[in-house]
Amino acid sequence: MKIEVAKTAGFCFGVDRAVEMVSKLLQEGRRVYTLGPIIHNPQLVRKLEMQGCGIVDTPEEVPSGGTVVIRSHGVPAAVFEEIRTRGLDCVDATCPFVAKLHRIAWEESRKGRILLIAGDENHPEVRGICGHVLPIAGEIRGWFVFKNAEELGVLLANHPEWGQKSISVVAQTTFNVSEWKKCLQNIKKVCTNAATFDTICNATALRQTEAVELAKRADQMIVIGGHHSSNTAKLRDVCAAFCKTDLVETADELPVEALRTAHFVGVTAGASTPADIIKEVLVTMAEIIEDTIQNPAETGDPNF
Ligand code: F3S
Repeated sequence: MKIEVAKTAGFCFGVDRAVEMVSKLLQEGRRVYTLGPIIHNPQLVRKLEMQGCGIVDTPEEVPSGGTVVIRSHGVPAAVFEEIRTRGLDCVDATCPFVAKLHRIAWEESRKGRILLIAGDENHPEVRGICGHVLPIAGEIRGWFVFKNAEELGVLLANHPEWGQKSISVVAQTTFNVSEWKKCLQNIKKVCTNAATFDTICNATALRQTEAVELAKRADQMIVIGGHHSSNTAKLRDVCAAFCKTDLVETADELPVEALRTAHFVGVTAGASTPADIIKEVLVTMAEIIEDTIQNPAETGDPNF
């Protein structure tokens, strides 16, 4: 069996930066509280918890003397305001690419333009973006979220007035690149006054492109990452279009039987997957291969 690991697998710049910030604060002896888990990886979150990092849902829960950390996904403007009002010590680990989206949301809505967001409306990043849109006079709300070209089609059909209105369109940083292209084509056909912003993060685009290239050659893909990680789920989806794909959070979840009969396995990992988890999965895969070579009959593969 051949194994090839994607060069881009693992931590992106924004996640690495946020985790480093928390680790540094803990080393300095600060009482750190993150607003939600710092990243969508339970193993790393547990490790930080053991070092004393607390997790809260709202600034209200941060005890006095504590330092609140805003994670890379960012938060709505109202949360920043609450932190300021409470006089809390705050470290902002919002990824600069997400912060850029916040600026676009604020500026476009300030000009009176309606913001359309391609993404998952329940994801904290998208909730954060919506929370930077200013109310637009005369509009019920200034933003709408769609998760794919189909949902966008329904929105456009329900709002024929958008054909002439000032519309601005952005994407969640981890949105699927090819779906985004489809959405832009549809918007340009219908909305004559649409401004579009390519806000998919380069780290996401590179990971998806490399994963697809690998999935086209492999007969099995292993995507390593948290079950609640949006960018990891996107990697699984783009790979699944080309070959059998399994998403595993840890080595225990590896599909042992499928690996024993696979010939070429591609491996990639989400932007929030720590290097030690990737290493652990690769070591376990190597053990499975070794066991398969030593006990070929168990695979049922006629080539052995
Ligand atoms: Fe930032 Fe892109 Fe990572 S937006 S958090 S560098 S996936």
